[in-house]
Amino acid sequence: MTVTDSPFLKACRREPVPHTPVWFMRQAGRSLPEYRKAREGIAMLDSCTRPELVTEITLQPVRRHGVDAAILFSDIVVPLKAIGVDLDIKPGVGPVIAEPIRTRADLARLRPLDPADVSYVAEAVRGTVAELGDVPLIGFAGAPFTLASYLVEGGPSRNHEHTKAMMYGAPELWAELVDRLAGIAAAFLSVQIESGVSAVQLFDSWAGALAPADYRRAVLPASAKVFSAVAHHGVPRIHFGVGTGELLGLLGEAGADVVGVDWRVPLDEAARRVGPGKALQGNLDPAVLFAPTAAVQEQADEVLAAARDLPGHVFNLGHGVLPDTDPDALTRLVAHVHERTAG
Ligand code: CP3
Repeated sequence: MTVTDSPFLKACRREPVPHTPVWFMRQAGRSLPEYRKAREGIAMLDSCTRPELVTEITLQPVRRHGVDAAILFSDIVVPLKAIGVDLDIKPGVGPVIAEPIRTRADLARLRPLDPADVSYVAEAVRGTVAELGDVPLIGFAGAPFTLASYLVEGGPSRNHEHTKAMMYGAPELWAELVDRLAGIAAAFLSVQIESGVSAVQLFDSWAGALAPADYRRAVLPASAKVFSAVAHHGVPRIHFGVGTGELLGLLGEAGADVVGVDWRVPLDEAARRVGPGKALQGNLDPAVLFAPTAAVQEQADEVLAAARDLPGHVFNLGHGVLPDTDPDALTRLVAHVHERTAG
């Protein structure tokens, strides 16, 4: 087997697979004791600048769970930090921005990303791909809306009020902001693709806060720009958001090859909403992993049953692995999905 004909890439291309491929969003880090040990005394964003550490953390879930793809250990705010935005990741909180972006003058702080700004990411990708062998590596970036929310709010936000105030009240400023972020996301993905990742995922974690008409008008053009900027590389492009049941068609329209689905919409219904020509990724509720094994398997079987007629299905959770998840439950789940779908 080569990376190109790995089950994960085949499923992304909607080709027949020997078994349904599995990986987990936020599989690197979080619940693994070996991750906590590797990270001891090293701040999150510093750890992303150390290629050997990135490779080690990226490989940990592959070794432990036998997942069908690795995701690069990094963060959606790495390219923002790299262009000089004063930000930090606070444990248990998330990204915090020292001076939020609220005015036209603030936009000057968002200069384009130069590949040299993230040379450590390129180095980490090359080293990780060399170690992974036949297992594909997924690169990623934050989508313009989700990055904009952190920048405008100054940190994690429940209601995205400042973000939406700009979106509705200063549409031209907003359009310029998300356009700049699209350029940064596209450049960050391009660095990863040129260094050897086999697929990319655009995380629009907070897009579910938007009504479809607003998403279409104020956000979709920027995300579409990211997808079209990397289209010529020919690697599968995954588009993921949370609470996006009403946006699934638009997430596909933005240009992705694979649409990620959270746990709120069954995959057969999601396929109808997304329309033909796309693979789907998802969508077990991450909280299910706290239930006994038999219940986890029952819920996983429901996901597989809903995905039975899809031409391409990548099994994943509906959102990231929760920090207190028992790692053994993840290992058992990978084995279960492989067994159930083999042959
Ligand atoms: O998926 C993976 O395992 C690869 C690595 C990865 C991280 N962040 C590492 C990380 C990926 C793909 C991300 C993406 C990311 N970062 C998203 C989109 C995905 C999603 O879950 O919706 C978002 C919104 C962020 C921003 C961010 N960074 C948050 C909300 C947090 C959590 C803060 C906390 O401590 O609860 C981070 C920090 C972060 N990024 C951690 C990891 C492993 C935890 C930091 C630590 O272990 O100290």
